[in-house]
Amino acid sequence: MISGFLIAVLVGILVMLVVMTYYLHTIKKHHVEEFEAEGKPEQEEQVEKVSLIRGFIYAAIILTVITMIAALYFGVKGTIYEGHVMEWMNIVVRLLHITFGIAWIGASFYFVFLENALNRTKDVREELAGNLWAVHGGGFYYVEKYKVAPKEIPKDLHWFKYEAYFTWLSGFTLLFVVYYFNASAMLIDKNILNIPAWEGVLIGIGSFVVAWGIYATLCRTPLVKKGVWFALIGFLLCTGFAYFYTQVFNSRAAYIHLGAMLGTLMVGNVFFIIIPAQKAMVKAAKEGKWLNPELGKHAGLRSLHNNYFTLPVLFVMISNHFPSTFGNEHPWLVLAIISLGAAGVKHYLNLKEKGVLTYWVMPISVLILLSAAYISSPQKEGECKGEVSFEEVNKIVQKRCVACHSSHPTDDVYQAAPNGVMYDTPEQIYKLKDKIMQRVVITKTMPQNNKTNITQKERDMIGCWINQGAHLK
Ligand code: HEC
Repeated sequence: MISGFLIAVLVGILVMLVVMTYYLHTIKKHHVEEFEAEGKPEQEEQVEKVSLIRGFIYAAIILTVITMIAALYFGVKGTIYEGHVMEWMNIVVRLLHITFGIAWIGASFYFVFLENALNRTKDVREELAGNLWAVHGGGFYYVEKYKVAPKEIPKDLHWFKYEAYFTWLSGFTLLFVVYYFNASAMLIDKNILNIPAWEGVLIGIGSFVVAWGIYATLCRTPLVKKGVWFALIGFLLCTGFAYFYTQVFNSRAAYIHLGAMLGTLMVGNVFFIIIPAQKAMVKAAKEGKWLNPELGKHAGLRSLHNNYFTLPVLFVMISNHFPSTFGNEHPWLVLAIISLGAAGVKHYLNLKEKGVLTYWVMPISVLILLSAAYISSPQKEGECKGEVSFEEVNKIVQKRCVACHSSHPTDDVYQAAPNGVMYDTPEQIYKLKDKIMQRVVITKTMPQNNKTNITQKERDMIGCWINQGAHLK
């Protein structure tokens, strides 16, 4: 009732804010036209002021929407709509996250490609670093890169930053929607570390701050200029974080936290280093002051770091679908190896764009990736002592699985069968025997967090039953 009223008020505020952005848009357009016609400095100031106000209003819109979502969440908490609202929040936020992420990584790939592929020698004007001809979508494009900055900064300068900020914001929201709001089921595994949910959430968020602190400090040492050593130490640190996460969270959440940590470093680079450097460059160029070229170079280096983070982060984002990775006995090791191999592939692509031919980077990266496939392959199964009957297996399944996997789950968190998987009838069990093998016997990622305390002996029995042909008699 209270939250219904609150949401109604917030909707009213939201409508007013949106109308304001519309009016501000026309006011800004008017000032810009005036400035273009007369060119008085106070008119330009007006334009900047209006832009600033618009920024505040956008921030107010975001805050209002977040408050609305929180009100909705507390309004439906404990009702039959809770699961439904969470699912739709998940859909919306995930879709936003993927969309912004594609825009961000796409731009990152494009500009690193541009940098690598620039023609730097043939017919390049003195003030330029290089140029590039391209054809795309039925049009021909010609791009020039300046050594430092053009003498006069053009008025319409496109900045690439919101892709990064929104990717991070939506990703962080998703972390809450999927893992933190439901921490006791999705984040904490009592068999790994028995801590209260809020402590897990604090450790998760705190780890991102610590990671940024370490990375930012390393970037201030001379080490940052020594590519190979920096990469090596960076890789060891990442492996350390991966190990730490798997000692604190369930392994799926541990994977996601490594991805979120790297994503945080990436957005930190954009927010704290790259954008401020660009702003300083624009300011200096406008005032006709000397511009330290190191500023641009350091920003470029951070941008290159981001480029190497992308493939490992993308793997983490899809890793949830692959129990053989996070379900391994040493999940952090598989994660570290795949991250290394993926970054190696990116290194090969970067070298190739520069026209540097290498024979070893790609094969070694592939070997590294294959070694991850090798160490995550199934172990030889234990001996089976005689025939296992379906009756015995069914008893285990009813005891350990149907709390969640049933048309009427009794679990406190899962009110509907997860992924639609139910084990109410023998046929349902038989049909999913391959997946059961993968999740229960090989990777041991089911029962989730082993909430129902299945024993190794029971896992072996299920494995034997499936290997013996999964007979229902
Ligand atoms: C505490 C709740 C819970 C228990 C108990 C549980 N599961 Fe699950 N199960 C889940 C959730 C949540 C998912 C979906 C997320 C995932 O795939 O990890 C799932 C997914 C699965 C999947 C993958 C389905 C797919 O579409 O890929 C299989 C197979 C599975 N469970 C089998 C089992 C078996 C067999 C048991 C008993 C030995 C069991 N589960 C016990 C919660 C549970």
